[in-house]
Formats: sequence, structure tokens, C-alpha cells
Amino acid sequence: MSNPDIIAFCNQKGGVGKTTCALNIAAGLTLFKKKVLVIDFDPQAHLTYSLGLNAHDLKNTIYSVMKGTTPLTDSVMDIKGMKVLPANLDLARLEMEMAAFPKREMILKSRLSAVSDVQYIIIDCPPASGLLTINALVSCQEVFIPLQMEFLALKGMSRLLNLIEEVKKKFNKDGPAYRVIPTRYDARKRLNNAIMDKVRERFGAQVFHAAIRENIAVAEAPSFGQSIFEYAPQSHGAEDYLNLCKEIIRKRPGG
Ligand SMILES: Nc1ncnc2c1ncn2[C@@H]1O[C@H](COP(=O)(O)OP(=O)(O)OP(=O)(O)O)[C@@H](O)[C@H]1O
Ligand SMILES: [Mg+2]
Repeated sequence: MSNPDIIAFCNQKGGVGKTTCALNIAAGLTLFKKKVLVIDFDPQAHLTYSLGLNAHDLKNTIYSVMKGTTPLTDSVMDIKGMKVLPANLDLARLEMEMAAFPKREMILKSRLSAVSDVQYIIIDCPPASGLLTINALVSCQEVFIPLQMEFLALKGMSRLLNLIEEVKKKFNKDGPAYRVIPTRYDARKRLNNAIMDKVRERFGAQVFHAAIRENIAVAEAPSFGQSIFEYAPQSHGAEDYLNLCKEIIRKRPGG
């Protein structure tokens, strides 16, 4: 298998749909028979909980992998056809502990170099721009930015784009590229439409055609430990995430 596509879901703004997108896109790609590793890289461990796991009970997590105390291959769990590297609150300590490590921005990248048996690696980032996010940006080829079509959304976005530029300059001149996922879109809201137009005008082809609509089933699914495809396969949410996955697969050489 060729090298995996590594995609980081980033936005320093909280609650914009990073975890929801990461999880449902991972589940959607699995429906298309793609091999996916999804990494919870946020100390809040929302992705871990959304999969129905109890983060408290976990010993082998992205924290132990980053620290080098457990090998990545022994720490991933097989859940619903995906490989999952969960997180717990330990990860909150890592940022401080990492500060003393040599090459502290490159740790995730070096850990991921051991992964060869998947086509996609999906990283759910915290709503911050500290060392965790920087590790994800250094490791990935693409950043997917979930964006709500609201006032101030674009302001936060330019901060993230500056951070990506900085990472490019310092660590990785070839990458990462970025794409925008419009989330929680409500066509009945005039402001949503106006901002969607602005975003498409400004970022053009870097915005996915498929937007994710505001959909109650999308918000409910995690409390059942389910993806939107399990919880409500006929919903708008499932339809939107399926279209988004098709778009992601289409642009990958060889699918
Ligand atoms: N399309 C949608 N329709 C309705 N609710 C949604 C949709 N997408 C996300 N949500 C809800 O919005 C909230 C925030 O989503 P999510 O946790 O994915 O954001 P996040 O960016 O990962 O947050 P954080 O920055 O805290 O990690 C959650 O309650 C989620 O269920
Ligand atoms: Mg999140």
C-alpha cells in the first residue's frame, strides 16, 4: 500500500465541528472500503467518547505513543472497521512535557512513519494552536478546516492560515495544503448564505462542494457511540457526509 494521506482537522475556534467531521468522514471512508486510522489528538477526548469508549479506562493512547512508552501498532484499537488511536486527559500534560523534548514539533510525524497499512490517517486536533496542533500540521499533507458560515468565522481562519504558513516555512516547505468544509449550514439563514458566498469567492476550489447541513441527527449520534451512518443513514447528515467522502476519494490518485 502506498503512503497514507494524512489529514488534520483543525480550527482554533472551538465547537465548529472538527470532531464531528473527523469521525463521520473516517466512518464514511470505511463504508467505501478504505482503510482508515483515526487519531484523537485532543485532551478533551471527545472523539474517543463519541465512539462509545470510556477514555478513563484506557492505558494505551496517543499520549503513551507520543511519549514512546507504547508502540503505535500495539496501541490502536479496531472499532467498526476503523483503526482508532484514542486519547484521554493525559494528553493535556503532554504539551508541557514535550516542551523539553528535542525536535518536539516532529514527534507525531516520526510516530506516523511506522504506519503503512492504511490509506487515510485522520487527526482530530484541539481548538488551540499549541504544540499538539503544530505536531499535527507538521505531519499532515492536508488540513481540513470545518467552518461555520458565521460572522467572525473568517477572522479565525486567517490566524490558522498564518500558522500553516509558519509551519511550512520552518518544517515542511511542501505542505500542508488546506481545504474548507462548510459545516452546520442552514440555507434558511440569510447570514449563512451571505458568508458561504464570501467563503467560496475567497477560497474557490479549496472549499468542498459538499456542505454539511445543520442536522439534529448529527448532534445526537455521538451520545449513542455511533456515526451518522449507523444512527440515521437516511438523514441529511448522512447524505452530506457521504457526498463529502466521495469528493475526498475522487481527488486521491488511485482512489
Ligand atoms: N451538522 C451538524 N448539525 C448539528 N449539530 C452539529 C453538526 N456538526 C456538529 N454539531 C454539534 O456541534 C457541537 C460541536 O461540534 P464538535 O464537537 O464536532 O466541534 P469541535 O470543533 O470538535 O469542538 P472542539 O473545538 O471543542 O473540539 C457538537 O455538539 C456537535 O454535535
Ligand atoms: Mg473536537
